[in-house]
Amino acid sequence: MRSRILGTGAYVPDRILTNADLEKMVDTSDSWIIERTGIRERRIVGQDQACSDLAMKAAEKALAKAGVLASQLDLIIVGTCTGDSPLPSTACLVQQKIGATRAAAFDLNAACCGFVYSLALADAYVKTGLQYVLVIGAEVMSSIIDWTDRNTCVLFGDGAGAVVVGKAEGDDGILSIHLHGDGEHSELIQVPGGGSRFPASEQTLNDKLQFVQMKGNETFKVAVKTMEEAVREVLTFNGHSIEDVDVFVPHQANIRILKAVAQRLKFPLEKTVINLDRLGNTSAASIPLALDEAVASGRIRCGDYVLLAAFGAGLTWASSLIRW
Ligand code: ACO
Repeated sequence: MRSRILGTGAYVPDRILTNADLEKMVDTSDSWIIERTGIRERRIVGQDQACSDLAMKAAEKALAKAGVLASQLDLIIVGTCTGDSPLPSTACLVQQKIGATRAAAFDLNAACCGFVYSLALADAYVKTGLQYVLVIGAEVMSSIIDWTDRNTCVLFGDGAGAVVVGKAEGDDGILSIHLHGDGEHSELIQVPGGGSRFPASEQTLNDKLQFVQMKGNETFKVAVKTMEEAVREVLTFNGHSIEDVDVFVPHQANIRILKAVAQRLKFPLEKTVINLDRLGNTSAASIPLALDEAVASGRIRCGDYVLLAAFGAGLTWASSLIRW
């Protein structure tokens, strides 16, 4: 028995932050950002929006596409590292907002791998008896960015993507998902403050510990290596070669990472879905946003082999192969 994605949905806030806007905020340039990252603009939440608001909108669209009612959901998993607050979970807030009265709900933090990790849980739960699981990747990265730090503030954006997972008919659906973690490199990408190690205080705020700190250069190298490994693992496990892949939906951090991965795999970049030019790095939301765009535009069709691969803070990395 397999699970499959029954419907996808996405939502990004209206407000656009361009590279030209960033030029007025920090010592950077449109040409540097485009050349080094591929990002032209990103979406930023409005003042009254938090993670659950974005998640809810993506969820409602995915449910409509899947033809599933919120009241039919058994479980909601929100992959996020920027939930509305530490307690309660953002998934519980979404559960209430969409009226999923029967659903259990929890958040999962695997940073940029949050969606693929959550999809793995949904797959396992459906295989062991649940009927419908809603998986959301939703982030308000703008809330943990130091807008005076040019090393990080040009990279990230806000958004949410969602899928409804249910039973597959026949052999199609999620073929496998592979998850990895390595805390050895936890210092490469971190938000040190606001948790139990450094609870929020005047000192942590002065030290800006509530913001993302990243060793970009080292992260870049690990990202290329782990993405390539993750892709090779899922293809080998399923007895497929890279030529069999119709559409590649990777985590969107940097166009140079995607180009390097494509080159190492000898995979044409044209078959890779790219949204980072318009949305930046939306962490756990990046894959479901790209997936929804590819489905809506007809780029992913029934029977296609769709490859997902992600990496992120933790470190975490993950991959999946889906027969759509
Ligand atoms: N504008 C202009 N100059 C800049 C900017 C900027 N926005 N940011 C950095 N620079 C400067 C640096 O200060 C440095 O200057 P120096 O040589 O005088 O010291 C120079 O540009 C080169 O800096 P590098 O860090 O070496 O630049 P690099 O080519 O590595 O690009 C980048 C930086 C874009 C961050 C890249 O390393 C990257 O994308 N890394 C991966 C990040 C990533 O994938 N994160 C994903 C995980 S996020 C998560 O899990 C939540």
